[in-house]
Amino acid sequence: MPAPQPTALGSDRPDKRRLPVLASGALAREDRSDVRVVSMHPVTRPRSARISITDRCDFACTYCRPSKNDGYAEKRLSVEGWRTTIAGLVEAGVRRVRITGGEPLVHPHVVEIVRMISGFGVEDLALTTNASQLTRLAKPLAEAGLRRVNVSIDSLRADRFEAITRGGALAPVLAGIEAAREAGLDPIKLNAVVLRGVNDDELEALVEYAWARRLVPRFLEVMPIAEGAKLVHDHLVPVAEMRARLASLVEDEEPTTEPDRGPARYLRSRRDPSLRVGFISGTSDTYCATCDRLRVSSSGVLRPCLATDEGVDASEAAEQGDAERVPDLLAEAWAKKPDGRSFKGCTEPSAARVSMRAIGG
Ligand code: GTP
Ligand code: 5AD
Ligand code: SF4
Repeated sequence: MPAPQPTALGSDRPDKRRLPVLASGALAREDRSDVRVVSMHPVTRPRSARISITDRCDFACTYCRPSKNDGYAEKRLSVEGWRTTIAGLVEAGVRRVRITGGEPLVHPHVVEIVRMISGFGVEDLALTTNASQLTRLAKPLAEAGLRRVNVSIDSLRADRFEAITRGGALAPVLAGIEAAREAGLDPIKLNAVVLRGVNDDELEALVEYAWARRLVPRFLEVMPIAEGAKLVHDHLVPVAEMRARLASLVEDEEPTTEPDRGPARYLRSRRDPSLRVGFISGTSDTYCATCDRLRVSSSGVLRPCLATDEGVDASEAAEQGDAERVPDLLAEAWAKKPDGRSFKGCTEPSAARVSMRAIGG
């Protein structure tokens, strides 16, 4: 696939912001009253934002946090702060938004946040959840404009599920998935982090569970991010091995990606080509060269990369309602994006020091 060419920020807007970009990728701004020049990362620009609305979570998955008592951030952006942030990001060309956490459904105003973002008319509005609260929230979220969800589910065995999540109950999660189907959220993708010796004997079972409901099962390599860094050595199952284990169920073909979506690669079912399995190889491979994802932490920091602690704090502008400043702060953050050709993503040492919950995965 050819690498996306450098393009002006917000260049699909038929207005005065259609501007050139410096090849160097350095931040540049031309101070003409009718025109703003903001240059970005040399290869990509942020079209997609993953926003972590809270670092709180009712689970403590072993690859994510050390315990349920590992403490939360002091500061969390208000709903109005998010409104300003999203307004600024949309102005700057962001067209796809995924709400993450922590666990976004423990945020008391998650439905209001979905309604607010939906009002901006973004192309894609999705949410990643552990589904523990989905029975209660699937319908209100769908009515507020949410279109699809990705659900984290690492095991279909209650005892294992409880062990991996450190106390989470499986039954409400399964009920939550049914509620999401009934609410018309579509597609529903399931994310399972595969850990050797823990749940790697459940690949077929997860596929059958998902396909029976026409959901999309996806398998993730554990990434050396945060607590995952402690697990990779003993528990990583590379995607090549996962694929070999599912050989009787999926086609032996070149995997495909979905345009304008995350880094997952998909293989079709041998039984029914409309069914698929996805794989996310964040450890044996990296996606940095074509990454157009911006992350916004629960405290309002614009983060150009999952695997570094770099970022620009936009919380002050957000809380002051200053959406006009956000595109500039975004350009400043994007200029810090690592060069995807040499940077090795989540396998860089910096990745072990980030908080997955605060950044939003
Ligand atoms: P879709 O658009 O539905 O494909 O979603 P997604 O896969 O982007 O989102 P989801 O929240 O389900 O993320 C699944 C996993 O992919 C998480 O572990 C993310 O951290 C990981 N992921 C998403 N984007 C990136 C990325 O740019 N790099 C790496 N290494 N992992 C990513
Ligand atoms: N490695 C791989 N996936 C992870 N997730 C959280 N931490 C890690 C890690 N260290 C996954 C969750 C969820 C998604 C947002 O990120 O399981 O599905
Ligand atoms: Fe919570 Fe998701 Fe982290 Fe598990 S991976 S502890 S569900 S934020």
